[in-house]
Amino acid sequence: MSDTIENPQPRTVNGRYSPLARTFHWVSAALMFAVVPIAWYMTTLERTDPSREDWYSLHKSIGITILVLSILRVIWSQLDHRPTLTGILQPLQAAAAHVAHILLYVMLIAMPVSGYLMSAAGGHPVVIFGLFTIPPLVPVSHDLSRLGALLHDAGQWAVYGLVSLHVLATGYHTFVRRDGILGRMLPWRAN
Ligand code: HEM
Ligand code: HEM
Repeated sequence: MSDTIENPQPRTVNGRYSPLARTFHWVSAALMFAVVPIAWYMTTLERTDPSREDWYSLHKSIGITILVLSILRVIWSQLDHRPTLTGILQPLQAAAAHVAHILLYVMLIAMPVSGYLMSAAGGHPVVIFGLFTIPPLVPVSHDLSRLGALLHDAGQWAVYGLVSLHVLATGYHTFVRRDGILGRMLPWRAN
């Protein structure tokens, strides 16, 4: 086993993520790569801009979709057989990867929840893709809305840091160690 750790070969993958786990991952990742630039753009628009409300609504709709997907994904991850990192990484590295994944899950849930809190407690309706409005689940409260805004604003930096680290780590595994980690998550069999 130590040989595997010291000399990773393309075939050291330890099983793969299930099709549903892979679908959750890539759909959520794509939505994350959409929701953030939309936020950057929408916050530059003047209050008088006629498209501003639509962009905010799209941001909120995608964000709530990420929340629903992430809750289902966390439930599924408890029932699913997930590939381990045993034999691919040193125990400390495997533990670090595990913590990083948990933190990504935390942000996938904390960002939409704080965004919802900011909007709903601020008295702004949360309309999902123009189809229906989420009934207000929290009272209108300036303090609660302010708390949501603070968490949402600060949380974005955790998202940028964690996602950058995550993508860099995948690049390191793919191009430097060539240990087949990416293949565990790709839709097709890469090794
Ligand atoms: C994973 C999901 C989400 C991510 C990653 C995310 C990310 C962001 C980012 C990066 C900003 C820009 C912050 C700034 O420049 O100050 C932002 C702003 C905002 N987000 Fe989200 N967001 C998510 C979900 C939501 C949801 C579900 C809602 C509401 C239901 C929401 C409501 C808002 C609002 C109202 C703003 C504008 C705040 C302002 O005008 O200062 N977000 N979001
Ligand atoms: C180009 C972008 C991305 C690439 C190449 C990528 C790649 C990967 C790979 C290869 C794994 C499997 C790691 C392993 O085998 O242990 C993984 C897991 C994971 N990724 Fe990504 N990812 C990307 C974007 C994202 C984004 C944007 C998020 C969320 C913000 C995310 C969240 C996660 C989580 C939570 C896991 C752990 C899955 C589990 O074990 O339950 N990824 N990613």
